[in-house]
Amino acid sequence: MPVAVATWGPLVFVHPDAAAPPLETLLGSVPASVRAGGLDPEGLRFHSRVEYELQANWKVVIENYLECYHCAVAHPGFSSVVEVDPTRYRLEASSWSSSQFCGLRETPRGPGTGTSYQPSGEITGGQFHFLWPNTRLNVFPGRPNLSVGTAIPIGPERTRGFFDYFFGEGVRKVRPGTCLLSTTRSGAKTGCSSSRCSAACARACSEAEGSYLRASS
Ligand SMILES: [Fe+2]
Repeated sequence: MPVAVATWGPLVFVHPDAAAPPLETLLGSVPASVRAGGLDPEGLRFHSRVEYELQANWKVVIENYLECYHCAVAHPGFSSVVEVDPTRYRLEASSWSSSQFCGLRETPRGPGTGTSYQPSGEITGGQFHFLWPNTRLNVFPGRPNLSVGTAIPIGPERTRGFFDYFFGEGVRKVRPGTCLLSTTRSGAKTGCSSSRCSAACARACSEAEGSYLRASS
């Protein structure tokens, strides 16, 4: 069966419809935003894949990704170094994607101050892109990094997925992430089935992720 195949940076996209619109149409302004943020996707190398399974409907998993109102409470380490105030946290939407942008605080503050998350590096702002219907692309402040993941429904209250982690040359992951998400929202169940589940949203593992933005010695 003929399929459409296209690449962006280290990622390969396959569409079962060979006559599907080009990948550039789906990605929209995302590649330009990533480059404007200081990341060259061509310089990234695959590091690892982390699989996860959540006791949640896949739409809840995606919805959890689309905002950062919960960050100050759920992700204190991330929020201590990154601007998460709604007046400074930028949201953009286009035909096939929605994007979140955040910068670094001038001075870390809040309950997470002192976290191991050290965001210094070439990337000075965070970018979190949702590609319809179930793909997420994350760039965290710090050394060159990109994580991409899916949310695949396997039942009314069960979602499975993975995140693939890519880093620039000389950047390494020094310890596995741990997921913070375990909450109840509008009667829908969300939670981790494993202490090493990747994330139901980008920030869930951000405090640990900061540790793998360090340069290897
Ligand atoms: Fe979160």
